[in-house]
Amino acid sequence: MNKNIAVFASGRGSNFLAIAKEIKKGKLKCSLLFLICDNPRAGVINKAKKMGIKVILESNETRIAEHIKREKINLIILAGFMRILSKEFIRKHQNRIINIHPSLLPSFKGKWGIKYAFDYGVRVTGVTVHFVDELIDHGPIILQDTVKINTNDTIHSLEERIHRIEHRIYPKAIKLFLEGKLSLKGRKVKISN
Ligand code: GAR
Repeated sequence: MNKNIAVFASGRGSNFLAIAKEIKKGKLKCSLLFLICDNPRAGVINKAKKMGIKVILESNETRIAEHIKREKINLIILAGFMRILSKEFIRKHQNRIINIHPSLLPSFKGKWGIKYAFDYGVRVTGVTVHFVDELIDHGPIILQDTVKINTNDTIHSLEERIHRIEHRIYPKAIKLFLEGKLSLKGRKVKISN
């Protein structure tokens, strides 16, 4: 049976859109029941509406948890959700929340992962999809991909390449979850064939 998923986002929503499109094309077999957005001015809201996906404007965790329970959500996908979830919420939904971060974790955690890597001057950065645990940008890593930083890159050209990788890697990680191919041993994620 199809699993139910919900996306949480606060911003532009390009990852949300990439995921929603893969579902629409039938490449990700699941039902995207709603978007949780905590920012009434976020671009993601219109993207969801255009795709006919229900938008819940909500920042209260207790009410968010009620929606998750009522709709029997199997997987919560954080896609640029800029609110820190409480330890209680994370414990309650353990191993059912995943996040994407625009750096090669554990490097450059935090709000501006792309900029931190660019300003630091690393030659290689990337993207990480991971399970969410009680620490920020810390949980078990599902997939990573690298992005080279060239000397003529600007923060914008780098951002563009990072996002392109994000839009490819996030649906891939979600697919592995939906197909039951991910298992956890301590903080290591095993991917089965
Ligand atoms: C993405 O780059 C995502 O990796 C980042 O927010 C952006 C959202 O873009 N998330 C974090 O930095 C989490 N620490 P989008 O709204 O276009 O999907």
